[in-house]
Amino acid sequence: MNTPKRYLVTSALPYANGLKHVGHLAGAYIPADIYVRYLRAQKRDVVFVCGSDEHGTAIPIQAKKEGTTPQAIIDKYHVAMKQDFEDLDISFDIYHRTSAPLHHETAQEFFTRLNDAGELEIKETEQYFDEEANSFLADRFIKGTCPNCKSDRAFGDQCENCGRTLSPDELINPVSTLSGKTPIKKKTSHWYLPLGKHEEFLREWILKEHKDDWRPTVVGQCKGWIDGGLKSRAVTRDLDWGVKVPLKDAEGKVLYVWFDAPIGYISATKQWSIDNDKDWKPYWEDKDTKLVHFVGKDNIVFHCIIFPIMLKLHGNILPDNVPANEFLNLEGDKMSTSRNWKLEMRDYINDFVKKENGGGQCVDMLHYYLTQIAPETKDSEFTWKGFQDAVNSELVSIFGNFINRTWVLMHKLCNGKVPPLHTDMLDENDKFLIAEIEKSKRVIEQLLEQYKFRDALFEVIELSRKGNQYMQKKEPWIVAKQLTTDPAAQKSIDNTMHLCLQLSANLAILINPFLPNTAKTMLYMMKVVEKMLDWENAGNIKLLSVGYSLREPKLLFRKIEDAEITEQVEKLKAGLKDSVIEIKTSAIPQSKPMIQFDDFAKLELKAGTITACEKVEKADKLLKLEVDLGHEKRTIVSGIALHYKPEEMIGKQVVVVTNLAPRKMKGIESQGMILTAEDSDGKLQLLKPENPVSPGSNVS
Ligand code: MF3
Ligand code: ZN
Repeated sequence: MNTPKRYLVTSALPYANGLKHVGHLAGAYIPADIYVRYLRAQKRDVVFVCGSDEHGTAIPIQAKKEGTTPQAIIDKYHVAMKQDFEDLDISFDIYHRTSAPLHHETAQEFFTRLNDAGELEIKETEQYFDEEANSFLADRFIKGTCPNCKSDRAFGDQCENCGRTLSPDELINPVSTLSGKTPIKKKTSHWYLPLGKHEEFLREWILKEHKDDWRPTVVGQCKGWIDGGLKSRAVTRDLDWGVKVPLKDAEGKVLYVWFDAPIGYISATKQWSIDNDKDWKPYWEDKDTKLVHFVGKDNIVFHCIIFPIMLKLHGNILPDNVPANEFLNLEGDKMSTSRNWKLEMRDYINDFVKKENGGGQCVDMLHYYLTQIAPETKDSEFTWKGFQDAVNSELVSIFGNFINRTWVLMHKLCNGKVPPLHTDMLDENDKFLIAEIEKSKRVIEQLLEQYKFRDALFEVIELSRKGNQYMQKKEPWIVAKQLTTDPAAQKSIDNTMHLCLQLSANLAILINPFLPNTAKTMLYMMKVVEKMLDWENAGNIKLLSVGYSLREPKLLFRKIEDAEITEQVEKLKAGLKDSVIEIKTSAIPQSKPMIQFDDFAKLELKAGTITACEKVEKADKLLKLEVDLGHEKRTIVSGIALHYKPEEMIGKQVVVVTNLAPRKMKGIESQGMILTAEDSDGKLQLLKPENPVSPGSNVS
């Protein structure tokens, strides 16, 4: 294949409605970063863009949850996400945001061009409307039961449980998330993109042209969409948060978030070109640009079907590939924000990266593990034990060990200098190693070009393993014992150490796209400049000159201790329990199924008086209460520590569920649950009798 003139690489724009977790990192950011670092080392012309996705109903909903404005939400999370990516060394050329005026203009121009060309249809339909909130209910403003899996956690755009894309009309028992009420239907007009008109193009382009170079999971999903019949898709919404529809008679309408967000890749490129005094146009218009979108599997349809149709109609180039990843599970379960079963990037940064001098080692350890388990072909799983094993038995014991042995022996047996290579004395082992270095470069390069990052990284580690085996066979420390008796001994040591050093230099180049901090430390040890990491130097075994003196070794990776992973697993489990308590005690408008009086009568509720209260150690959210219930005292653990101080609890009356099966939290058995209500700021308020009653009084 010809080398393209330039590359435009994108990672999915994350929603600015919360911090992102390692599943996101493994899905769309780390693989893109590896690819881009490889291209840069190849001296290719590449721009890597990303930014915050700041529209859609997810934002005002989060604002409501946090008791603030949508603007405050995007400002907070845009800054926080940008920082997380920076702290984890994801090397975007620009991290933009879709609230920027440049983006609004770009998205509006895009819409206008498609509309003027007659490529959009206007349709009047009846849509769900909340009379109390006086608002149409787009996407996440409406929820109900999923027609597919029957979960009651389905939204108007997607089911949280099975992942199925939905429209509000498909929901069973729809309820407004604004008021909790059943909505009515009301007429409204919207602009639609008729996907069906482009079926032939999609069949040709995806199912024929790209059937072999796109991942089978991606082609498979696209085929499913196309065969399932492509319906027209509304590209506007009745909302006040988003990019305004640029037409006179479109008051109160904005572009659908999935229409404007991918255009964010273009506006980000424009901003980058302004900042760097470059021309952005060829990156989106010249056929000789290779456009690659890195996304998670829930984004496939948007990047492979809808956005390409938009790009085609607007006169832009199409993506050359969309290497979408499957999902990453965590410790045996699906990652989930609502259940708090997740490892946020920020948690890893705080618990590992920030705790260490420099922190680069810890960043690389995470890049390593997330690449080693990357869900490229099927869902995979993050476990802390797996993380520990990957670091300790691969990075430390194989790669780190080879580099360290090489440096120690070179200082001991070669005066800290690169020894000469005596070509007349090369043996089978030497020749094998030289061939392996040359071969590895080609293999790794091919794998990277095919987006097989897992396999590519495996090959790098394999090469260092071969280095260890080579050294084990050559045993320079044994040969050193014959220095006084055998004249050839020094030459043998020279050759061994010379080749181990050249292999080390090669390993620095090959590991650089994956573990940039490690490569930098190796450069320091070799006292060479960054230029050495140019990809064209890989496979070369004359990178370090003879006689050149090298620095002392540095530790590339530290071991992960058992205690560290135990602590992380406990933290994860404690977080889950806290969130369960929160959900149970909070009064988020719920649309739970109707129950009969008998169901309610199963609850035993009593009033009690709090007689003692203290914080639970190592749990930010938990208080341990002692509640007097007249004939008995109970210990209750409650997730209200962020809302009440222990001392202000004493003497208060509360309502207790007394027949809830006891549960252990942080090692303390909780023998009941106290009831609270959540106010608009998210603060929990205790429910209590209006006037004092005697402890143990029945509540009904
Ligand atoms: N915000 C979306 C998500 O998190 C991804 C948007 S990608 C873009 O699923 F192409 F629209 F930008
Ligand atoms: Zn479902």
